[in-house]
Amino acid sequence: MASDTLTIIDNRTGKKYDIPVQNGAIKATDLFQIKVSEDDGLVSYDPGFMNTASCQSRITYIDGDKGILRYRGYPIEQLAEQSTYLETAYLILYGELPGKSELAEWIGNITIHSIIHENIKKHIDGFHHDAHPMGILVSTVAALSTFYPDAKKIFDAKSRREQTYRLISKMPTLAAFAYRHSLGLPYSYPDNDLSYTGNFLNMLFKMTELKYKPNPVLEKALDVLFILHADHEQNCSTNAMRGVSSSQVDPYSSVAAAAAALYGPLHGGANEAVLRMLMGIGSKEKVSEFIKKVKGGEGRLMGFGHRVYKNYDPRAKIIKDIADQVFEVRGRNPLLDIALELERIALEDDYFIKRKLYPNVDFYSGLIYQSMGLPMDMFPVLFAIPRTSGWIAQWEEMLTDPDQKLARPKQVYLGADKRDYLAMDRRS
Ligand code: CMC
Repeated sequence: MASDTLTIIDNRTGKKYDIPVQNGAIKATDLFQIKVSEDDGLVSYDPGFMNTASCQSRITYIDGDKGILRYRGYPIEQLAEQSTYLETAYLILYGELPGKSELAEWIGNITIHSIIHENIKKHIDGFHHDAHPMGILVSTVAALSTFYPDAKKIFDAKSRREQTYRLISKMPTLAAFAYRHSLGLPYSYPDNDLSYTGNFLNMLFKMTELKYKPNPVLEKALDVLFILHADHEQNCSTNAMRGVSSSQVDPYSSVAAAAAALYGPLHGGANEAVLRMLMGIGSKEKVSEFIKKVKGGEGRLMGFGHRVYKNYDPRAKIIKDIADQVFEVRGRNPLLDIALELERIALEDDYFIKRKLYPNVDFYSGLIYQSMGLPMDMFPVLFAIPRTSGWIAQWEEMLTDPDQKLARPKQVYLGADKRDYLAMDRRS
Protein backbone atom coordinates (compact mmCIF):
# COMPACT_ATOMS: atom_id res chain seq x y z
CA MET A 1 0.00 0.00 0.00
CA ALA A 2 1.31 3.46 -0.86
CA SER A 3 2.37 5.28 2.30
CA ASP A 4 1.31 8.79 1.25
CA THR A 5 -2.39 8.05 1.44
CA LEU A 6 -5.16 8.31 3.96
CA THR A 7 -7.51 5.33 4.22
CA ILE A 8 -11.07 6.18 5.13
CA ILE A 9 -13.75 3.60 5.90
CA ASP A 10 -17.25 5.06 5.62
CA ASN A 11 -19.20 3.29 8.36
CA ARG A 12 -22.45 4.36 6.71
CA THR A 13 -21.73 2.14 3.70
CA GLY A 14 -18.76 0.01 4.76
CA LYS A 15 -16.84 1.29 1.71
CA LYS A 16 -13.10 1.99 1.91
CA TYR A 17 -11.32 4.90 0.18
CA ASP A 18 -7.61 5.66 -0.28
CA ILE A 19 -7.04 9.39 -0.52
CA PRO A 20 -3.66 10.81 -1.59
CA VAL A 21 -1.81 12.99 0.93
CA GLN A 22 0.46 15.65 -0.56
CA ASN A 23 2.48 18.19 1.42
CA GLY A 24 0.59 17.21 4.56
CA ALA A 25 -2.81 17.88 2.99
CA ILE A 26 -5.65 15.99 1.34
CA LYS A 27 -7.72 17.61 -1.39
CA ALA A 28 -11.16 18.42 -0.01
CA THR A 29 -12.61 17.54 -3.44
CA ASP A 30 -11.31 13.97 -2.97
CA LEU A 31 -13.83 13.61 -0.15
CA PHE A 32 -16.68 14.16 -2.57
CA GLN A 33 -16.40 10.60 -3.95
CA ILE A 34 -17.48 9.37 -0.48
CA LYS A 35 -21.20 9.02 -1.02
CA VAL A 36 -24.19 7.34 0.51
CA SER A 37 -26.32 7.99 -2.57
CA GLU A 38 -25.70 9.33 -6.06
CA ASP A 39 -26.77 12.89 -5.21
CA ASP A 40 -24.62 13.53 -2.15
CA GLY A 41 -20.89 13.57 -1.46
CA LEU A 42 -18.91 14.20 1.70
CA VAL A 43 -17.79 17.77 2.39
CA SER A 44 -15.69 19.13 5.25
CA TYR A 45 -17.36 21.65 7.58
CA ASP A 46 -14.90 24.28 8.81
CA PRO A 47 -16.24 27.69 9.86
CA GLY A 48 -13.38 30.17 10.23
CA PHE A 49 -11.02 27.90 8.24
CA MET A 50 -9.67 26.41 11.48
CA ASN A 51 -8.06 23.50 9.62
CA THR A 52 -8.47 24.26 5.92
CA ALA A 53 -5.64 25.39 3.65
CA SER A 54 -7.12 27.68 0.99
CA CYS A 55 -3.93 27.86 -1.07
CA GLN A 56 -0.37 26.72 -1.47
CA SER A 57 1.96 29.62 -0.77
CA ARG A 58 5.66 30.36 -0.88
CA ILE A 59 5.54 33.78 0.79
CA THR A 60 5.35 33.62 4.59
CA TYR A 61 6.12 30.80 7.01
CA ILE A 62 4.86 30.72 10.59
CA ASP A 63 5.54 28.07 13.25
CA GLY A 64 3.24 29.18 16.03
CA ASP A 65 4.53 26.70 18.62
CA LYS A 66 8.12 27.75 18.17
CA GLY A 67 7.39 31.46 17.67
CA ILE A 68 8.90 31.56 14.17
CA LEU A 69 7.99 34.04 11.40
CA ARG A 70 9.85 34.13 8.08
CA TYR A 71 9.26 36.03 4.83
CA ARG A 72 10.46 34.00 1.83
CA GLY A 73 12.64 31.99 4.24
CA TYR A 74 14.31 34.98 5.92
CA PRO A 75 13.76 35.21 9.71
CA ILE A 76 11.80 38.29 10.75
CA GLU A 77 14.50 39.15 13.30
CA GLN A 78 17.17 39.45 10.57
CA LEU A 79 14.92 41.52 8.31
CA ALA A 80 13.94 43.84 11.16
CA GLU A 81 17.58 44.39 12.02
CA GLN A 82 19.18 44.60 8.58
CA SER A 83 16.56 45.35 5.93
CA THR A 84 14.22 48.26 5.18
CA TYR A 85 10.48 48.15 4.61
CA LEU A 86 10.78 48.76 0.85
CA GLU A 87 13.49 46.12 0.44
CA THR A 88 11.35 43.67 2.46
CA ALA A 89 8.30 44.54 0.33
CA TYR A 90 10.37 43.70 -2.78
CA LEU A 91 11.40 40.39 -1.19
CA ILE A 92 7.82 39.52 -0.26
CA LEU A 93 6.58 40.39 -3.74
CA TYR A 94 9.29 38.92 -5.93
CA GLY A 95 10.71 36.14 -3.75
CA GLU A 96 14.36 37.25 -3.60
CA LEU A 97 16.31 40.11 -2.07
CA PRO A 98 16.97 42.75 -4.75
CA GLY A 99 20.40 43.57 -6.16
CA LYS A 100 21.70 47.13 -5.83
CA SER A 101 20.28 48.46 -9.10
CA GLU A 102 17.01 46.49 -8.72
CA LEU A 103 16.50 48.05 -5.30
CA ALA A 104 17.27 51.57 -6.57
CA GLU A 105 14.83 51.12 -9.48
CA TRP A 106 12.17 49.69 -7.14
CA ILE A 107 12.48 52.56 -4.65
CA GLY A 108 12.43 55.06 -7.53
CA ASN A 109 9.23 53.55 -8.92
CA ILE A 110 7.50 53.54 -5.54
CA THR A 111 8.61 57.11 -4.81
CA ILE A 112 7.40 58.70 -8.05
CA HIS A 113 3.84 57.44 -7.61
CA SER A 114 3.23 59.05 -4.23
CA ILE A 115 1.03 61.93 -5.42
CA ILE A 116 -2.72 61.34 -5.66
CA HIS A 117 -5.13 62.89 -8.14
CA GLU A 118 -6.56 66.19 -6.87
CA ASN A 119 -10.07 64.78 -7.21
CA ILE A 120 -9.24 62.16 -4.57
CA LYS A 121 -8.36 65.06 -2.30
CA LYS A 122 -11.82 66.50 -2.99
CA HIS A 123 -13.30 63.09 -2.22
CA ILE A 124 -11.57 63.19 1.20
CA ASP A 125 -12.83 66.76 1.72
CA GLY A 126 -16.36 65.39 1.48
CA PHE A 127 -16.01 63.34 4.67
CA HIS A 128 -17.30 64.67 7.96
CA HIS A 129 -14.53 66.12 10.20
CA ASP A 130 -14.72 63.20 12.64
CA ALA A 131 -14.82 60.45 10.00
CA HIS A 132 -12.73 57.46 11.07
CA PRO A 133 -9.49 57.52 9.02
CA MET A 134 -9.80 53.81 8.29
CA GLY A 135 -13.22 54.44 6.72
CA ILE A 136 -11.65 57.16 4.59
CA LEU A 137 -8.77 54.88 3.60
CA VAL A 138 -11.06 52.00 2.60
CA SER A 139 -13.23 54.32 0.55
CA THR A 140 -10.44 56.26 -1.18
CA VAL A 141 -8.41 53.20 -2.12
CA ALA A 142 -11.55 51.76 -3.72
CA ALA A 143 -12.07 55.10 -5.51
CA LEU A 144 -8.57 54.80 -7.03
CA SER A 145 -9.89 52.01 -9.26
CA THR A 146 -11.96 54.62 -11.12
CA PHE A 147 -8.80 56.64 -11.83
CA TYR A 148 -6.83 53.68 -13.19
CA PRO A 149 -9.12 51.68 -15.47
CA ASP A 150 -6.01 49.90 -16.84
CA ALA A 151 -5.94 48.06 -13.49
CA LYS A 152 -8.66 45.80 -14.84
CA LYS A 153 -6.01 44.10 -16.99
CA ILE A 154 -5.09 41.75 -14.20
CA PHE A 155 -3.53 39.12 -16.48
CA ASP A 156 -1.12 41.67 -17.94
CA ALA A 157 2.09 41.45 -15.85
CA LYS A 158 3.12 45.01 -16.81
CA SER A 159 -0.19 46.44 -15.65
CA ARG A 160 0.02 44.46 -12.39
CA ARG A 161 3.49 45.91 -11.74
CA GLU A 162 2.19 49.44 -12.36
CA GLN A 163 -0.70 48.98 -9.91
CA THR A 164 1.74 47.50 -7.38
CA TYR A 165 3.87 50.67 -7.47
CA ARG A 166 0.79 52.86 -7.22
CA LEU A 167 -0.79 51.00 -4.34
CA ILE A 168 2.34 50.76 -2.17
CA SER A 169 3.17 54.38 -2.93
CA LYS A 170 -0.25 55.96 -2.50
CA MET A 171 -1.45 54.19 0.66
CA PRO A 172 0.65 56.43 2.96
CA THR A 173 -0.60 59.52 1.10
CA LEU A 174 -4.25 58.49 1.49
CA ALA A 175 -3.66 57.63 5.17
CA ALA A 176 -1.89 60.88 5.96
CA PHE A 177 -4.50 62.97 4.13
CA ALA A 178 -7.24 61.19 6.12
CA TYR A 179 -5.40 62.14 9.33
CA ARG A 180 -4.91 65.79 8.30
CA HIS A 181 -8.57 66.01 7.34
CA SER A 182 -9.61 64.92 10.85
CA LEU A 183 -7.58 67.82 12.28
CA GLY A 184 -8.71 70.37 9.71
CA LEU A 185 -5.10 70.85 8.65
CA PRO A 186 -4.03 71.56 5.06
CA TYR A 187 -2.77 68.44 3.32
CA SER A 188 0.98 68.02 3.31
CA TYR A 189 2.11 66.80 -0.11
CA PRO A 190 4.64 63.99 -0.55
CA ASP A 191 8.31 64.92 -0.43
CA ASN A 192 10.14 62.56 -2.74
CA ASP A 193 13.54 63.45 -1.24
CA LEU A 194 12.58 61.54 1.88
CA SER A 195 12.44 57.81 2.61
CA TYR A 196 9.14 55.92 2.55
CA THR A 197 8.54 56.36 6.29
CA GLY A 198 10.28 59.76 6.44
CA ASN A 199 7.87 61.02 3.80
CA PHE A 200 4.92 59.50 5.65
CA LEU A 201 5.94 61.40 8.81
CA ASN A 202 6.26 64.53 6.64
CA MET A 203 2.72 64.10 5.29
CA LEU A 204 1.40 63.52 8.83
CA PHE A 205 3.24 66.14 10.83
CA LYS A 206 4.65 68.92 8.63
CA MET A 207 3.45 72.33 9.77
CA THR A 208 4.83 75.65 8.49
CA GLU A 209 8.47 74.67 8.02
CA LEU A 210 9.67 74.76 4.41
CA LYS A 211 11.24 71.34 4.58
CA TYR A 212 10.21 68.65 7.06
CA LYS A 213 13.09 66.79 8.68
CA PRO A 214 11.97 63.47 10.13
CA ASN A 215 13.54 62.37 13.38
CA PRO A 216 15.81 59.48 12.29
CA VAL A 217 14.92 57.35 15.33
CA LEU A 218 11.17 57.66 14.68
CA GLU A 219 11.69 57.17 10.94
CA LYS A 220 13.64 53.96 11.59
CA ALA A 221 11.20 52.75 14.27
CA LEU A 222 8.27 53.16 11.89
CA ASP A 223 10.21 51.39 9.15
CA VAL A 224 10.82 48.38 11.42
CA LEU A 225 7.17 48.36 12.48
CA PHE A 226 6.25 48.32 8.78
CA ILE A 227 8.57 45.34 8.20
CA LEU A 228 6.90 43.45 11.07
CA HIS A 229 3.42 44.08 9.68
CA ALA A 230 4.16 43.42 5.99
CA ASP A 231 2.67 39.94 5.75
CA HIS A 232 1.28 37.23 8.02
CA GLU A 233 0.14 34.49 5.62
CA GLN A 234 -3.58 33.59 5.41
CA ASN A 235 -5.07 35.94 8.01
CA CYS A 236 -8.56 37.45 7.77
CA SER A 237 -7.66 40.42 5.53
CA THR A 238 -5.38 38.38 3.26
CA ASN A 239 -8.15 35.84 2.89
CA ALA A 240 -10.44 38.75 1.90
CA MET A 241 -7.83 39.92 -0.63
CA ARG A 242 -7.60 36.49 -2.21
CA GLY A 243 -11.33 35.77 -2.02
CA VAL A 244 -12.40 39.06 -3.58
CA SER A 245 -9.60 38.97 -6.18
CA SER A 246 -10.68 35.49 -7.26
CA SER A 247 -13.60 37.21 -9.03
CA GLN A 248 -10.91 38.90 -11.18
CA VAL A 249 -11.81 42.40 -9.98
CA ASP A 250 -9.12 45.14 -10.10
CA PRO A 251 -6.59 45.26 -7.21
CA TYR A 252 -7.80 48.62 -5.81
CA SER A 253 -11.21 47.11 -5.13
CA SER A 254 -9.57 44.04 -3.59
CA VAL A 255 -7.24 46.09 -1.37
CA ALA A 256 -10.27 48.09 -0.20
CA ALA A 257 -11.96 44.80 0.77
CA ALA A 258 -8.82 43.58 2.54
CA ALA A 259 -8.48 46.88 4.42
CA ALA A 260 -12.16 46.64 5.42
CA ALA A 261 -11.47 43.18 6.87
CA LEU A 262 -8.48 44.59 8.74
CA TYR A 263 -10.65 47.36 10.21
CA GLY A 264 -12.43 44.97 12.62
CA PRO A 265 -11.43 44.75 16.29
CA LEU A 266 -10.59 41.04 16.11
CA HIS A 267 -7.92 41.73 13.50
CA GLY A 268 -6.26 45.14 12.99
CA GLY A 269 -8.06 46.89 15.83
CA ALA A 270 -6.53 45.02 18.79
CA ASN A 271 -3.70 47.53 19.40
CA GLU A 272 -6.29 50.22 20.03
CA ALA A 273 -8.04 47.87 22.50
CA VAL A 274 -4.74 47.39 24.37
CA LEU A 275 -4.39 51.13 24.92
CA ARG A 276 -7.97 51.44 26.11
CA MET A 277 -7.34 48.55 28.52
CA LEU A 278 -4.13 50.15 29.88
CA MET A 279 -5.89 53.49 30.34
CA GLY A 280 -8.78 51.69 32.07
CA ILE A 281 -6.43 49.96 34.54
CA GLY A 282 -4.98 53.37 35.33
CA SER A 283 -1.97 52.47 37.48
CA LYS A 284 0.60 49.74 38.12
CA GLU A 285 -0.89 49.07 41.54
CA LYS A 286 -4.21 48.03 40.01
CA VAL A 287 -2.69 45.39 37.71
CA SER A 288 -3.11 42.38 40.08
CA GLU A 289 -6.74 43.23 40.60
CA PHE A 290 -7.25 43.46 36.82
CA ILE A 291 -5.53 40.09 36.24
CA LYS A 292 -7.79 38.52 38.88
CA LYS A 293 -10.83 39.79 36.98
CA VAL A 294 -9.53 38.40 33.67
CA LYS A 295 -8.94 35.02 35.31
CA GLY A 296 -12.46 35.17 36.70
CA GLY A 297 -13.81 35.50 33.15
CA GLU A 298 -14.37 39.27 33.19
CA GLY A 299 -12.87 40.32 29.87
CA ARG A 300 -9.58 39.43 28.26
CA LEU A 301 -6.04 40.60 28.57
CA MET A 302 -5.84 42.43 25.25
CA GLY A 303 -2.59 42.05 23.33
CA PHE A 304 -2.16 38.57 24.77
CA GLY A 305 -2.79 35.26 23.02
CA HIS A 306 -2.90 34.42 19.34
CA ARG A 307 -4.66 31.90 17.13
CA VAL A 308 -1.35 30.73 15.66
CA TYR A 309 1.38 31.66 18.15
CA LYS A 310 1.41 29.50 21.25
CA ASN A 311 4.70 31.05 22.24
CA TYR A 312 6.00 34.62 22.44
CA ASP A 313 4.98 36.35 19.17
CA PRO A 314 8.39 37.03 17.56
CA ARG A 315 7.15 40.45 16.42
CA ALA A 316 6.33 41.44 20.01
CA LYS A 317 9.95 40.82 21.10
CA ILE A 318 11.27 43.17 18.39
CA ILE A 319 8.61 45.79 19.10
CA LYS A 320 9.59 45.92 22.76
CA ASP A 321 13.09 47.04 21.77
CA ILE A 322 11.75 49.66 19.37
CA ALA A 323 9.51 51.01 22.12
CA ASP A 324 12.56 51.76 24.27
CA GLN A 325 14.22 53.66 21.39
CA VAL A 326 11.08 55.72 20.70
CA PHE A 327 10.58 56.54 24.38
CA GLU A 328 14.15 57.81 24.56
CA VAL A 329 13.25 60.43 21.95
CA ARG A 330 9.66 61.19 22.91
CA GLY A 331 9.75 60.55 26.64
CA ARG A 332 8.50 57.47 28.42
CA ASN A 333 4.86 56.60 27.78
CA PRO A 334 3.38 56.45 31.29
CA LEU A 335 1.26 53.47 30.25
CA LEU A 336 4.44 51.43 29.73
CA ASP A 337 4.81 50.70 33.45
CA ILE A 338 1.33 49.22 33.51
CA ALA A 339 2.10 47.14 30.39
CA LEU A 340 5.37 45.82 31.83
CA GLU A 341 3.70 44.90 35.12
CA LEU A 342 0.88 43.13 33.26
CA GLU A 343 3.41 41.16 31.23
CA ARG A 344 5.48 40.29 34.30
CA ILE A 345 2.51 38.99 36.29
CA ALA A 346 0.87 37.23 33.34
CA LEU A 347 4.03 35.38 32.33
CA GLU A 348 4.38 33.99 35.88
CA ASP A 349 0.72 33.09 36.27
CA ASP A 350 -0.51 29.51 35.83
CA TYR A 351 -3.69 30.64 34.03
CA PHE A 352 -1.69 32.23 31.20
CA ILE A 353 1.11 29.62 31.19
CA LYS A 354 -1.35 26.71 30.89
CA ARG A 355 -3.18 28.37 28.00
CA LYS A 356 0.07 29.42 26.30
CA LEU A 357 -0.91 33.09 26.32
CA TYR A 358 2.00 35.38 25.49
CA PRO A 359 2.19 39.02 24.36
CA ASN A 360 1.32 39.41 20.68
CA VAL A 361 2.29 42.08 18.13
CA ASP A 362 -0.36 44.48 19.41
CA PHE A 363 0.73 44.55 23.05
CA TYR A 364 3.39 47.25 22.60
CA SER A 365 2.77 48.71 19.12
CA GLY A 366 -0.05 51.03 20.29
CA LEU A 367 2.21 52.50 22.98
CA ILE A 368 4.76 53.37 20.29
CA TYR A 369 2.22 54.93 17.94
CA GLN A 370 0.78 56.94 20.82
CA SER A 371 4.25 58.18 21.76
CA MET A 372 4.76 59.26 18.16
CA GLY A 373 1.74 61.51 18.59
CA LEU A 374 -0.81 59.46 16.66
CA PRO A 375 -4.40 59.07 17.82
CA MET A 376 -5.83 55.61 18.42
CA ASP A 377 -8.07 55.55 15.38
CA MET A 378 -4.98 55.85 13.17
CA PHE A 379 -3.65 52.51 14.49
CA PRO A 380 -5.45 50.21 12.01
CA VAL A 381 -4.41 52.60 9.22
CA LEU A 382 -0.78 52.16 10.31
CA PHE A 383 -1.32 48.41 9.96
CA ALA A 384 -2.92 48.67 6.49
CA ILE A 385 -0.07 50.65 4.90
CA PRO A 386 2.66 48.00 5.28
CA ARG A 387 0.25 45.08 4.88
CA THR A 388 -0.49 46.33 1.36
CA SER A 389 2.73 44.74 0.05
CA GLY A 390 1.68 41.42 1.59
CA TRP A 391 -1.82 41.66 0.13
CA ILE A 392 -0.43 42.37 -3.34
CA ALA A 393 2.10 39.53 -3.11
CA GLN A 394 -0.72 37.14 -2.16
CA TRP A 395 -2.84 38.52 -5.03
CA GLU A 396 -0.02 38.03 -7.53
CA GLU A 397 0.60 34.49 -6.26
CA MET A 398 -3.09 33.67 -6.50
CA LEU A 399 -3.47 35.01 -10.04
CA THR A 400 -0.50 33.02 -11.30
CA ASP A 401 -1.48 29.78 -9.53
CA PRO A 402 -3.29 27.41 -11.95
CA ASP A 403 -4.96 25.64 -8.98
CA GLN A 404 -6.85 28.76 -7.95
CA LYS A 405 -10.48 29.29 -8.89
CA LEU A 406 -13.32 31.63 -8.03
CA ALA A 407 -13.68 31.45 -4.23
CA ARG A 408 -17.01 29.86 -3.61
CA PRO A 409 -17.31 27.81 -0.41
CA LYS A 410 -19.95 25.15 0.07
CA GLN A 411 -22.54 25.19 2.82
CA VAL A 412 -24.25 22.53 4.87
CA TYR A 413 -27.90 23.35 4.23
CA LEU A 414 -30.14 22.95 7.31
CA GLY A 415 -33.11 25.02 6.14
CA ALA A 416 -36.67 24.13 5.18
CA ASP A 417 -37.39 21.45 2.59
CA LYS A 418 -39.41 22.39 -0.50
CA ARG A 419 -42.74 23.99 0.33
CA ASP A 420 -45.40 25.86 -1.66
CA TYR A 421 -45.91 29.62 -1.60
CA LEU A 422 -48.82 30.69 0.60
CA ALA A 423 -51.12 33.55 -0.34
CA MET A 424 -51.30 36.28 2.32
CA ASP A 425 -54.77 35.29 3.59
CA ARG A 426 -53.59 31.70 4.19
CA ARG A 427 -50.61 32.62 6.41
CA SER A 428 -50.98 32.23 10.16
N1 CMC B 1 -6.89 36.92 28.00
C1 CMC B 1 -7.40 35.97 28.84
N2 CMC B 1 -7.71 34.71 28.45
C2 CMC B 1 -7.49 34.41 27.18
C3 CMC B 1 -6.95 35.34 26.25
C4 CMC B 1 -6.65 36.62 26.70
N3 CMC B 1 -6.13 37.54 25.88
N4 CMC B 1 -6.84 34.76 25.03
C5 CMC B 1 -7.30 33.50 25.19
N5 CMC B 1 -7.69 33.30 26.48
C6 CMC B 1 -8.18 32.04 27.07
C7 CMC B 1 -9.62 31.78 26.68
O1 CMC B 1 -10.52 32.32 27.61
C8 CMC B 1 -9.64 30.27 26.65
O2 CMC B 1 -9.69 29.84 27.98
P1 CMC B 1 -10.55 28.49 28.37
O3 CMC B 1 -9.83 27.39 27.68
O4 CMC B 1 -10.52 28.43 29.85
O5 CMC B 1 -11.93 28.73 27.80
C9 CMC B 1 -8.25 29.90 26.11
O6 CMC B 1 -7.42 30.99 26.49
C10 CMC B 1 -8.21 29.70 24.59
O7 CMC B 1 -8.80 30.86 23.99
P2 CMC B 1 -9.46 30.89 22.53
O8 CMC B 1 -10.33 32.09 22.45
O9 CMC B 1 -10.07 29.55 22.22
O10 CMC B 1 -8.17 31.03 21.63
P3 CMC B 1 -8.13 31.58 20.15
O11 CMC B 1 -6.90 31.02 19.55
O12 CMC B 1 -9.40 31.37 19.43
O13 CMC B 1 -7.95 33.15 20.40
C11 CMC B 1 -7.29 35.39 20.24
C12 CMC B 1 -6.97 33.93 19.89
C13 CMC B 1 -6.19 36.29 19.66
C14 CMC B 1 -8.64 35.78 19.62
C15 CMC B 1 -7.33 35.53 21.79
O14 CMC B 1 -6.11 35.12 22.36
C16 CMC B 1 -7.69 36.95 22.22
O15 CMC B 1 -8.87 37.30 22.27
N6 CMC B 1 -6.66 37.81 22.53
C17 CMC B 1 -6.90 39.19 22.90
C18 CMC B 1 -7.11 40.01 21.64
C19 CMC B 1 -5.83 40.28 20.89
O16 CMC B 1 -4.82 40.64 21.46
N7 CMC B 1 -5.86 40.10 19.56
C20 CMC B 1 -4.70 40.37 18.71
C21 CMC B 1 -4.23 39.15 17.99
S1 CMC B 1 -2.66 39.49 17.15
C22 CMC B 1 -3.09 40.45 15.75
C23 CMC B 1 -3.17 39.68 14.47
O17 CMC B 1 -2.21 38.97 14.10
O18 CMC B 1 -4.24 39.81 13.77
